[in-house]
Amino acid sequence: MQPITASPANALAGDCPVPGDKSISHRAVLIGALAVGETRITGLLEGEDVLRTLAAIGALGAGVSQTGPGSWQIHGVGIGGLSEPDDVLDMGNSGTAARLLLGVLASHPITCTMTGDHSLRSRPMERVAAPLRGFGASIQTRDGGRLPLTVVGAADAMPVEYTPPVASAQVKSAVLLAGLNAPGETTVIENRPTRDHTERMLRHFGATVAVDPLEAGGNRITVTGQPELTAAAIDVPADISSAAFPLVAALLVPGSSVTVRTVGMNPGRIGLIDTLHAMGADLTIANRRDLAGEPVADLTARYGPLKGIEVPAERAPAMIDEYPILAMAAAAAKGRTVMRGLAELRVKESDRLAAIADGLAACGVDVAAGEDDLVVTGVDGRPRGGNNTPIATHFDHRIAMSFLILGLAAQHPVTIDDGTAIDTSFPGFAALIGGIGGTLAAADGGA
Ligand code: S3P
Repeated sequence: MQPITASPANALAGDCPVPGDKSISHRAVLIGALAVGETRITGLLEGEDVLRTLAAIGALGAGVSQTGPGSWQIHGVGIGGLSEPDDVLDMGNSGTAARLLLGVLASHPITCTMTGDHSLRSRPMERVAAPLRGFGASIQTRDGGRLPLTVVGAADAMPVEYTPPVASAQVKSAVLLAGLNAPGETTVIENRPTRDHTERMLRHFGATVAVDPLEAGGNRITVTGQPELTAAAIDVPADISSAAFPLVAALLVPGSSVTVRTVGMNPGRIGLIDTLHAMGADLTIANRRDLAGEPVADLTARYGPLKGIEVPAERAPAMIDEYPILAMAAAAAKGRTVMRGLAELRVKESDRLAAIADGLAACGVDVAAGEDDLVVTGVDGRPRGGNNTPIATHFDHRIAMSFLILGLAAQHPVTIDDGTAIDTSFPGFAALIGGIGGTLAAADGGA
């Protein structure tokens, strides 16, 4: 346990060089392992989660080497070319690593056992196991569809058509990745669009992915199986989900102006930007361009008053990881912010709905959580902070970072019980926040 205290900050200023996108990093490594030849990745997120994916594909027979900070080379073995690992694959804290890799393994004729940390072993895996059995894979989970699980991949996989019951890019991606080693067409019918990094990256490596809009909204996404994936170069953009922390800090701390450059602006990820704009945020988007098939831009946030709004439930998939930091912004805004359609937050790295509500209440903020909604009544300025007992972060990186940002913006310091999970997605967080003028310090009582 590593308790950390964030103290009320004076104006934050400068450029904040945020690490690479977690979703894109996982996909670059996994799809690179399935291509033929050397894939060179720059700007890879070297967080714990992505290191797990790198270790797993190494254990499955792909070549992995680091050529510099953030620069990695993956020697791909071709679709169907992964070999059986000689030990259990430990995916640590990463739901994305576990679910996407399970998709890849479902159409490889090898046997693997997969586990994860305490948090990951409590998260639902049946949502991917169920469609992947349709390819002919045998997947045995622990009771309740949890890890550890054992997969025996299909030798002659059959293509699948699947409509996920929840809006989940992980479920969609697992099915599309399994479809790479099935003959014919594998289709996912997505009623509510989610981030499309997998589709973009598969195309970048030479696969055929068709996306047909549905009349009622959403898309029908079809991958043509058994393509020849050709090794490619990938430059990973900064993670918008990580950029959200210094940007929201700048919106909340008087006098601040902070820029994050080359931020991924995938249409399935920018819900927070739309929401902050609706709240009146001074958040500018400049220099829009393309990076390895993904849109990017430079974002600058400047302090200013925010007002509470109703965030539509339909927007949830496009900002699913950003509700913890949005709740901190809502605490400083004027009036009520109502967030609906948040059931998925209960099955993330922690029960985020409960963690946000408990933590905000401990910081003197008026908050109410329902089964799948959250209402925060903001104080139109600096929230109180000054919690008596450290915020329980439940080894959840985004809960930890969100409450540290609240501490910068509050009247009194905010202490969290443990900052170790931050390394899963944002290594160097404390130093980068220090670089723009925020103070995060080790608190007493660490074990
Ligand atoms: C991710 C998708 C989201 C998100 C997660 C990363 C991805 O999960 O919460 O952090 O990379 O596909 P779901 O798609 O399950 O909502």
